[in-house]
Amino acid sequence: MMAQVVQHELLLARHMSRLGTETAFDVLNKARALERQGKSIIHLEIGEPDFDTPANVVEAAVDALHNGWTHYGPSAGLPELRQAIADEVKRTRGVKVSPDEVVVVPGGKPIMFFTILALIDEGDEVIYPNPGFPIYESMINYVGGQAVPIQLHEERDFAMDVDELAPLITGRTKLIILNSPQNPTGGVLQRGDIERLARIIGGRNILVLSDEIYSRLQFEGKPFSIMSVPGMQDRTILLDGFSKTYAMTGWRLGYGVMRSDLATHIARLMTNSNSCTASFTQMAGIEALRGDQGPVERMCAEFKRRSEAFVAGLNKIKGFSCHQPKGAFYVFPNITRTGWKSKPLADTLLEQAGVAALSGTAFGEFGEGYLRFSVANSLENLQQALGRIDQWTKQNL
Ligand SMILES: Cc1ncc(COP(=O)(O)O)c(C=O)c1O
Repeated sequence: MMAQVVQHELLLARHMSRLGTETAFDVLNKARALERQGKSIIHLEIGEPDFDTPANVVEAAVDALHNGWTHYGPSAGLPELRQAIADEVKRTRGVKVSPDEVVVVPGGKPIMFFTILALIDEGDEVIYPNPGFPIYESMINYVGGQAVPIQLHEERDFAMDVDELAPLITGRTKLIILNSPQNPTGGVLQRGDIERLARIIGGRNILVLSDEIYSRLQFEGKPFSIMSVPGMQDRTILLDGFSKTYAMTGWRLGYGVMRSDLATHIARLMTNSNSCTASFTQMAGIEALRGDQGPVERMCAEFKRRSEAFVAGLNKIKGFSCHQPKGAFYVFPNITRTGWKSKPLADTLLEQAGVAALSGTAFGEFGEGYLRFSVANSLENLQQALGRIDQWTKQNL
């Protein structure tokens, strides 16, 4: 007699219900499904440079593969790369960093994941920007922390208002997350605001996770890090990486810079999860940092040019109004005057106009009233997208 096949219920751990996601990947899947049905879609949803990784970096990886960089390495990263990162951080942030304060990980994201896992106990409060990168809130909730949003305002070009942040700090605040230039708004924190925030934190034992993954893609002025403020270095965890700067999203290479005692714990999380970051990838990272920086500058100039063109186009469309971003490669128009909510508008533009964008609410509750478009696409496609949105609004609003 055949045994009866039982479909067992999937019994997930409770904390999995608190884990969020990044909607960009869902929208990409939906857009691809529409393309398979023969629809033409312009992809402005995903946050990755449309440029190729610079050739010298690719060659360094190929050479590394041929030269046997195909084995496990130290969990915290190859000493040569940790040194190159320490030099880069000294050059760009003006702080002395030793290689044992650097942890190399597969992308910038694991620094968020590991920092929050390592520092946040149940009930600890974490202040984070909203609208902001969705993984901050997801991870805070996942570990049972208390996510405390600080709303970013369009009137301030989405630069965090540190006076609004001050009253959010309590005796349970353990971590403050900063992100400049910011995803999804393109907002930039100015030096004065950062210094004032450091004064507000004062002598309290509050750590700052400073997500500077777009720091090389700031359109005007020099980026300023809270790590550079005297007295803040050992309370700052700097997150940076290669994904956006060197168009290396698929390589999975990023890093954190932090006090060395915390670095050992983050490295322990690496040992428990990934063992180490791919060795040949790290060898390519050394070339990226030490080689020609021309491609980074050209890419940044191109994102600026495209975002200016796209913003100008959006501002001519009924119901849309948009500030000029100050960095990264996103534009974040206000769509309240269309009379639509963000999510249905994003869904409808995808289905009816063939333009894939993200709802502002994919970046938190204060993203309602906005859409996010990535300008990591050709000027020609961006112009075509503007034409499609314009036509749709003329027919439907
Ligand atoms: C603000 C921000 N931080 C970090 C990351 C993660 O980058 P990575 O692909 O290197 O993990 C992203 C990617 O979109 C981002 O927008």
